[in-house]
Formats: sequence, structure tokens, C-alpha cells
Amino acid sequence: MDSEITINGIRLTIVETYEEMCRLAADMLLERIRVNPAMNLLLPTGSTPLGLYGILTKEYSGALGQATFFNMDEYCASLKGQIALIPETHPAGYRNYMQENLFGRVLPKATHFPGIENVQEEGYYDRLIEDSGGIDLCLNAMGEDGHTFGFNPPGTSFSSRTRLVKVNEGTRGVNKNITGMTTPEYAITVGLLTGMESKEILFLVSGKRKADILRKVMLAQEPTPLIPATILREHHQCHWIVDEKAAVNLK
Ligand code: GLP
Repeated sequence: MDSEITINGIRLTIVETYEEMCRLAADMLLERIRVNPAMNLLLPTGSTPLGLYGILTKEYSGALGQATFFNMDEYCASLKGQIALIPETHPAGYRNYMQENLFGRVLPKATHFPGIENVQEEGYYDRLIEDSGGIDLCLNAMGEDGHTFGFNPPGTSFSSRTRLVKVNEGTRGVNKNITGMTTPEYAITVGLLTGMESKEILFLVSGKRKADILRKVMLAQEPTPLIPATILREHHQCHWIVDEKAAVNLK
């Protein structure tokens, strides 16, 4: 059974399991897609949204064909001193991940990833989002150090926008453990402000390994760049959906 708690003015919906978290998020997304089938979505990768993507592809693929998808990030590597996106089919890459887990079966109208254009021309991806009408719904997760909206590590300015970042060693290690593959060194990621400009956010937190950071995010005296996900406390349409394992330190 779902329960709700409010901490520091933030209402969290706590569901029993990961599967229930994904089901609730899928229902909320589908409710919105029915009203606005041509909506713009901003999406994460990682392990958190996999169950949700599974539900969408199995049960609702037909409903998503008119939506436009923006991804939060993609890995880069340095080749002979030049930074380039990793190849599209790279097994650790996010274009590959999205193709396998969602786009290959949903066949969306349009998909976008932040790319090298953004290194050559600052503001490119944020402008693309803005010129498309902005993000209607963002699905979001966070890493164990509180990085959120892609790869915005502790210390990132709350006014950051899409840019090239070096992925820190901690996150490279965590992602290597999850995927079994070496994590590329760089990424192009949307910024914290890029994500916060979304009209609505579904923020998903699952599992024991997120329990410590979720507690820090909720109990920090005020939002701080040292814990990037605390910025979500400032968003008025952010739905916090967490499972029992992640919420274990909150009670
Ligand atoms: C990864 C991704 C993010 C993701 C986060 C959490 O490194 N760049 O998009 O939200 O870190 O990952 P996970 O869901 O596997 O814990």
C-alpha cells in the first residue's frame, strides 16, 4: 500500500516495491500523454527507469508515437586530443540504451541527444528545447552522490545548462558495476537549470543504495549545490515517488 510523508515541505509517495514505483510513474505519464499526445519529454538513463520503460514498450508503445523525446546525456571520449561522442552503437552509450529499451519499440516522432554542437555553440541544446516549446514532462532519477538531471555532480551551479563534463570517478565506478562495462570519461549533459525548467517532473528513487542520499536530500537545511538533487525541492510540480528500500532512513 502507498503511504505519504512530508519532510521539509516536500510530499513523498512511498510505494512498497520498485515494480510499484514504475507502475505508478507509467500511469501518471500515460494520463498526461492522453491529454497531450504530442508532448515533449526529457528522459534519463541508468537502472532506475528500466522497469518504467519496460511497461511503456510492452503496454503503451502506440500512445507514445507522437511525442518528442529529449535525452539528458550522452557519453563522450577523447580521441587524439579531440572530444567526440562515443559511437552510436557503443554498448555503454545512452543512444544505444534508449534504442534498446524504448525507442526501438515506440518509434517516436523525434528523438534528441545533447551532442558536440553544444560544445561548438554554447546553449545549442537548451535553445533546441526552448524552440520546441519546452519540456512538458521530465522523468528524473539521481545517483548515489546526489547527481541529477544526467551528470551534474556535487558542486554544480544551480544555474547550469547543457555542457561537457568529466564524469567523476565515483560515478564511473558505480556505473561500471551496474553495466559491467568501462564507463567513458566524459559526457554532455543537460544542466540543473535545463531540467528545472521542465513544467512537471516525476522523480524516482529506488533501492537501498539510494537510502543515504535520499535522507541527505530531504533533510538538508536548504537546497545546496553540494547535494545537487536538493534543487528538486524548489520545483513546484515535482512528484517524489520512492520505494520502501530507498525510504528506509526517513522513518
Ligand atoms: C547515471 C545517469 C543518470 C541517472 C543516474 C542514476 O549516471 N547519467 O541519467 O539518472 O546516474 O543512475 P541509476 O538509476 O542507475 O542509479
